[in-house]
Amino acid sequence: MKTKKKQVPGKNTTITWLGHSAFLLVSPKGKSLVIDPWLKNPKAPPSALEIQNADIILITHGHGDHIGNGVGLATRTGATVISNYEVSLYFQGQGVTKVQGINKSGSVEIDGITVTMVDATHSSGIEVGEHMLAGGDPAGFIIQMENGFTVYHAGDTGVFGDMKLIAELYHPHVALLPIGGYYTMGPREAAKAAELITPKFIIGMHYGTFPILKGTPAELKKHLPKRLKNRLLVLEPGTPVIL
Ligand code: NI
Ligand code: MN
Repeated sequence: MKTKKKQVPGKNTTITWLGHSAFLLVSPKGKSLVIDPWLKNPKAPPSALEIQNADIILITHGHGDHIGNGVGLATRTGATVISNYEVSLYFQGQGVTKVQGINKSGSVEIDGITVTMVDATHSSGIEVGEHMLAGGDPAGFIIQMENGFTVYHAGDTGVFGDMKLIAELYHPHVALLPIGGYYTMGPREAAKAAELITPKFIIGMHYGTFPILKGTPAELKKHLPKRLKNRLLVLEPGTPVIL
C-alpha cells in the first residue's frame, strides 16, 4: 500500500475506496469527488454514509450498484452530478438540479478538474420497480486533477482494445479496474487491460461485494506481466491512500 512517492500535504490526490466501485477522491486543491456512490454496499466503511462534502459526483452507468445513493448524496451536498445524458435526465427527474449529461469523449471542467467520459463495454438500464428505463450507454471516466494527476475509473466493463487509445490520449497515473468477473472483467482480462493502459498504479474494484464477484487482487497479480506486478495497490475500504 505504501508508495515511493514523497507525500506533500495538499499537493497530492487522496483516494479512498468505499467498497464495490465507489471511491472518494480528494484533489490536490481539496475538491471532493465521489464516484459510483453506492454508499450502503456490503463492504462500505461507516464513513461512506457520513460524507458531508462533495463537489462532483460521477455516475458511470444506470445500474443500481452504481447510481446507488447518488440522488441523496447530490441533494445533501449540492455536488454537480456528471453522467451520460440519459442518466442525467433520471437524476433531474429525482429533483437533482446540478447535472451535466455528457457523452463519450466529452469533457466537463469544474474548478480546475477535468472529467472526460470514455467508453466501457457493458449495459446501463435503470431499474425502477418492475420497469427498466433506458439508461444510455455505460462509460468510464478520466479525471484530471488541478496538477495534471490523472485517474481512470473504468466503470463496469469488459476489456477492449481501445483502452490503449485511452492510455495514449490521457496517460492515466492510476487505473481503477473491475476484477470481480461475472458482470465485468475478471482478473485475467483486467491484467490485459492494465497492460494496455500501463498506469503507475493499478487498483482493483467491483469484487468481494457478493460471493459471485469472485476475482481477487491476488489473482490479478498472478496474471499481470512481471513489470506491472509491483504497481498493484490493494486498498482496504475506508483507508485513504495518498498518491
Ligand atoms: Ni453494471
Ligand atoms: Mn456493477
